[in-house]
Amino acid sequence: MPLKSTWRCPSNIALVKYWGKKEGGVQLPANPSISLTLSDLYAQTSITLVHGNVSGQPAFSFLLDGQRKPGFEPKILAFLQRIWNDLQVVREYHLHIESVNNFPHGTGIASSAAGFGALALCICDLEEQITGVKFENLQQKASELARLGSGSACRSLFSGAAVWGETPVVQGASDLYAVPFDKPIAEPLNDLMDAVLIVDDEEKQVSSTQGHALLKGNVYAPARYAAAQENMQRISDALNKGSIRSFIAIVESEALQLHAMMMASSQYYILMRPNTLAIIEKIWKFRENTGLPVMFTLDAGANVHLLFPKMYNAEVVNFIETDLLAYCKNRQYLCSSTGNGPEKQNE
Ligand code: DP6
Repeated sequence: MPLKSTWRCPSNIALVKYWGKKEGGVQLPANPSISLTLSDLYAQTSITLVHGNVSGQPAFSFLLDGQRKPGFEPKILAFLQRIWNDLQVVREYHLHIESVNNFPHGTGIASSAAGFGALALCICDLEEQITGVKFENLQQKASELARLGSGSACRSLFSGAAVWGETPVVQGASDLYAVPFDKPIAEPLNDLMDAVLIVDDEEKQVSSTQGHALLKGNVYAPARYAAAQENMQRISDALNKGSIRSFIAIVESEALQLHAMMMASSQYYILMRPNTLAIIEKIWKFRENTGLPVMFTLDAGANVHLLFPKMYNAEVVNFIETDLLAYCKNRQYLCSSTGNGPEKQNE
């Protein structure tokens, strides 16, 4: 029987955004970020070691949802090249990678955080199996590897909230890997839901990797990095004290700053669509009218993540279905909540 490892790894949504890489390193963030690990949006990835590899370079095959996706191969190759010196399993075997996402195609949801998280875990697991040596801290090692595939992926390895990037706010925080947020999170922020409102399901007009590169030479970048550092302190306090008003202000401002940086780059883009703005305005009105603590955040795309404490689930689902679905492509939205991180699957 060939050796095989299968892991399920969730996606995450950033509250303070990673946007910009440090110069001179490999996949090091220009500022610290914090995210919530999601429960219901995940990738399940298997690697099977079918035969050896004597080519002197990474060898792999990749199927996503049962099909070859040549568009993903360069990013996987770059990842395997980056970890080549470190891992025997990559040097000695052909890796047959099969991944499935549990969210539907055509939702515009990026799967790279979940995908590289799961891939890194499979690689660590197989490395342990072939060398017979256990990693001192498997989660940390997998986070470090996942970062080399896609920066935001390194935060998907932990339950609850994870922090990536040097910051005095969290002990042991590092540019190399993410660590769990180290303080208790008070009610009502300890049980947040994330409804992803699908505004646009097209291929992204600019990849995140290209987006990060646009910060090089952007005159606003130093101010943005300083703001993110400050927001880490503020959000840490808000989470710890359960200060929802302050939390909302930081989360929404972070989302808009990310998009503002995109608009203020020399090669500029507008990633929001008219329906993105319509939904944001509806959220603000709903919050004003009901006093319920609902808020939005955004990825580098048009979809809106509607965050709210679970105790308001009934009211918010009703709000989504009555007022927001009209702005969603094919009336699609996906519901998730804060989750417990990756799980190894039995073969
Ligand atoms: C907007 O992690 O996708 O989601 O490191 O180049 O793979 P690469 O970029 P990626 O960047 C995502 C950034 C973001 C914000 C965030 O998740 O912090």
